[in-house]
Amino acid sequence: MRLDRLISQHCGIPRRQVTSVIRAGRVHVNGVQIRDPSVHVATSGDEVTLDGEPVRQPRELVLMMHKPPGVISATSSEEHETVIDRVPAEFRHPRLAPAGRLDKDTTGLLLLCTDGGLQHLVTHPRRKLAKVYRARLREGLLDADAEARFAAGMTLSDGTPCRPAGLERLAGDEVRVTLTEGRFHQVKRMLGHCGGHVVALHREAIGPLQLDPALALGGVRPLRDEELAALLAAVEPHRFASEATQNPPEAEEME
Ligand code: URA
Repeated sequence: MRLDRLISQHCGIPRRQVTSVIRAGRVHVNGVQIRDPSVHVATSGDEVTLDGEPVRQPRELVLMMHKPPGVISATSSEEHETVIDRVPAEFRHPRLAPAGRLDKDTTGLLLLCTDGGLQHLVTHPRRKLAKVYRARLREGLLDADAEARFAAGMTLSDGTPCRPAGLERLAGDEVRVTLTEGRFHQVKRMLGHCGGHVVALHREAIGPLQLDPALALGGVRPLRDEELAALLAAVEPHRFASEATQNPPEAEEME
């Protein structure tokens, strides 16, 4: 298989970026630096490394779920059904866990993955990955200046600081909220702080990923190659940007 194809498939990096990664001398085959993306390597036998890390590892599993209401975002529970209980047997894996949380009654896009590092990156506030929610409110309760207060960033009544966020009024009693962090019950609490009361909440998108409209409630499917590549590029720009900085992520957030 061509070297660029192998790295693209195994690391989820778009082919275009793989070419520059190889040309930059970051790839070795059997200990020899290779700068030609078209070189052919054996899919078993040749040892390929990117930045010194072996790339031929079994591919991590990243699933998109249309989370249904009534299940909790956890791997196991004595009392409640969990999102993992809803994963079809073909995708079950001992390391599979949700990347972030949605409340029990919230529906929409939830990522599940076997890679703890990716779970961390998706939820980490430093990545500033936009999470987009649609909320239905109890009729007519949102303060007139709510958009400005979201845009300015607010401090909740218990002292929790919230980053500036997007608020857009939609038809009926619906609003769209865009956050770049994931604090506990954050959408409900921010809207509550502006006089609103959420009666239904749904996550539409995480960074570059939109919930697949073909996925019914409870539906699960693996990310497509281009979706995974887009997600990795969004959470690991330090790795794939030309001016690479290798800052480790900070502490976990509260999502
Ligand atoms: N904010 C909430 O209030 N609930 C969720 O499930 C997600 C974000």
